[in-house]
Amino acid sequence: METDLLNLCVQLAPHHPKGLILSNPVMIAAGTLGYGIEYSEIADIQRLGAIVCKGTTLMPRKGNPQPRLVETPSGLLNSVGLENIGIEALIKDKAPVWATWQVPVIVNIAGETIDEYVTVASKLEGVPGISGIELNISCPNISSGGMEFGANPQLAAQITSSVKAITSLPVIVKLSPNVTDIKEVALAVEKAGADAISLINTVKGMAIDINKGKPCLGNITGGLSGPAVKPIALYMVYQAAKDVHIPVVGCGGIASATDALEFIMCGASAVQIGTANFTNPGISLTVLEGIKHFMEDKGIKNLTELIGIARSEPR
Ligand SMILES: Cc1cc2nc3c(=O)[nH]c(=O)nc-3n(C[C@H](O)[C@H](O)[C@H](O)COP(=O)(O)O)c2cc1C
Repeated sequence: METDLLNLCVQLAPHHPKGLILSNPVMIAAGTLGYGIEYSEIADIQRLGAIVCKGTTLMPRKGNPQPRLVETPSGLLNSVGLENIGIEALIKDKAPVWATWQVPVIVNIAGETIDEYVTVASKLEGVPGISGIELNISCPNISSGGMEFGANPQLAAQITSSVKAITSLPVIVKLSPNVTDIKEVALAVEKAGADAISLINTVKGMAIDINKGKPCLGNITGGLSGPAVKPIALYMVYQAAKDVHIPVVGCGGIASATDALEFIMCGASAVQIGTANFTNPGISLTVLEGIKHFMEDKGIKNLTELIGIARSEPR
């Protein structure tokens, strides 16, 4: 079968008037390749499904004290703390470059209050080069806002409906794994108008330097990502996809086409690749090629045929 005959398109916002169509399901996860601009110089990013940029707040943020990254077995602990250039600089310096790209760019936004999310989202209205918003209500590395919103279904719903009320862009809500029942939050944001959900953000964790007798991270705690979190992420995608009727984007430890296909078979319509970019900046394109080869080998023409097939119960 010719690769060109394969249909890998996914619609991430089927209930939204503009929609959010990706040419394939492979996305870059927020915070792992900045604004994608340096990355575009080393990889053919136009072939990807979408790029999600670094979490952006109203004002620029310096982030947390160093050290902010620690390697752990099969994982990475980070406590970057949403260092970013702020929404005005993003609109002025980054969006004009994105406007020349074919690959859709989704802006990951964060804040300490609901008003901050709303203000940041409203500033993106009508800005060329932006195809959607990802609401980061799941960052474990900031002292207020972030994960606090994602851990509480009522707050998660309130922030989703407040942003939906003022934006014409599709909104993906990014969920935290640091909750007792992911389904409850997924259902709450769906009811509040989310066009899609993405999960997972990092898993809260820490590491100790035994020679110093102190935590390794300047912020003491951080968020774990990479292969170590993949089984947790898969379980959460499985749980969340059970009840919602909006697309689910799977993320957490994806480093191969096999990993990506596991998420898709669990119910994800698309996948995001994060930590794996640090060891191999070309990994997302390799994953994309691997998915195509798998489909060719199995005689599958449409990616949609694979979504959720590993689920034992009907969706
Ligand atoms: C260094 C670093 C920075 C991150 N920054 C953000 C961010 O700004 N916004 C966000 O929603 N997620 C952020 N994340 C979380 C990732 O997007 C992703 O959800 C998580 O790392 C799990 O995927 P992975 O195992 O493929 O990295 C960050 C992760 C890392 C490792």
